[in-house]
Amino acid sequence: MSPLPRLEGIAPDTATVGPGGHLLVGGCDVVDVALRYGTPIYLYDEATIRARARAFREAVGGYPARAAVQYAAKAYCAPWLLRVMAEEGMGLDVVSGGELQVAAGVDFPRERISFHGNNKTGEELELALRERVGRVVIDNLDEIDRLATQAAERGTRQAVLLRVNPAVAARTHEHLQTGAADSKFGLSLSSDDAATGVGMIAERSSLDFRGLHFHIGSQIGEIEPYREALDRAFRFARGLRDRGLPLRELSPGGGYRVRYLPSDTPVDTVAMAHEVAKMVVEIAERHGFAGAVPDLSIEPGRALVASAGLAVYRVGSVKAVPGGRTYVAVDGGMADNIRPTAYGAEYTAVLANRMTHAAEATFAIAGRYCESGDILIREVRLPRPRPGDLVAIPASGAYHLAMASNYNLAPRPAVVVVADGVARLVRRRETYADLVATEV
Ligand code: LLP
Repeated sequence: MSPLPRLEGIAPDTATVGPGGHLLVGGCDVVDVALRYGTPIYLYDEATIRARARAFREAVGGYPARAAVQYAAKAYCAPWLLRVMAEEGMGLDVVSGGELQVAAGVDFPRERISFHGNNKTGEELELALRERVGRVVIDNLDEIDRLATQAAERGTRQAVLLRVNPAVAARTHEHLQTGAADSKFGLSLSSDDAATGVGMIAERSSLDFRGLHFHIGSQIGEIEPYREALDRAFRFARGLRDRGLPLRELSPGGGYRVRYLPSDTPVDTVAMAHEVAKMVVEIAERHGFAGAVPDLSIEPGRALVASAGLAVYRVGSVKAVPGGRTYVAVDGGMADNIRPTAYGAEYTAVLANRMTHAAEATFAIAGRYCESGDILIREVRLPRPRPGDLVAIPASGAYHLAMASNYNLAPRPAVVVVADGVARLVRRRETYADLVATEV
């Protein structure tokens, strides 16, 4: 139970109220951290990340074959974080040369890395082969020949999964669906495409076909779409087995829904992962794979890091628009968090320096960028904010910094990791010089 029950699963596990009514995270006073490193700033609570990682590994611990949890690094990829993930025994899903390079930089165990992407460049495939990543997840027919040729030239044999598209439209934001019939990801199970792909892989001696991968989307709160997709995948695998191609590995991706608002029904993402693992066994058995259940890997991104992250902004102005809302303008916005603008994502907030004050009215939290859509929160009940107050937005750990931009030439925020009462700067705030550093 979180010390802030309303924010259970939304704010970091260690969030609590300390002396002076200040928000504490990881034993650190958020007001002090903001004073010391400036705002906007992102705080990550290390304990929350480690607890989630352990819980996810436990959730698949009873699986009858090998089971791995691969953190989807696209949610947020930074050296300190990948180090924590490696220490927790996690694997990694990377989708670009950049993410792979960061992983290599901290010497992340390569065997535990899967390289994804629907249009990997020749250079990226080269990097993946050179780094000897555990798996390359092939997305399309063109990639098969390219990877097979490059692997052959290096004289290596690359273990691969084929990403298939199960044609399942999960109930989530349209932009977050990735397994609907008309998707750019994977090869269709509804046509001959996936079978053609496996056939082409099997013919190439530089590729080692291990199994199938799918990912149906993000922010999925129900188990049904996984069942449907698994059923289709195993039906397909049955056909492969009859052609002498056993399904040795299976990844049903990630996508477990997390809670952003106190009004969201509580979700137990870890229980969901457990259910998915159980379902794999059940469906495998139904399709005659008892005794030959494939190794499993799941790929949560958001569920591992969202609630660990807290965005902290300083209020610059409070403007009541006659007949409209009261806009509380903060010193960040869509450059560090594009999710409200991109997906209509909703958040809650607290005043980190006045946690014990009662909410007085409803406010809008406006970003500082030159765009009307730059509203972080349309409605939130708060004590009446004043310039200088600190607005803290929980559930900011996934897909904020990972998608941050320099819009309006805003320097990207600093990042601090808090643990056991110590705040550690892991990324300094960008400077104006950084903004032109790559101009030639
Ligand atoms: N595996 C694959 C192949 C994926 O494409 C993704 C996410 C994941 C795993 C992790 O999904 P998660 O567990 O984090 O839901 N920018 C969007 C989310 C895009 C997700 C893309 N793929 C957002 O801010 O909501």
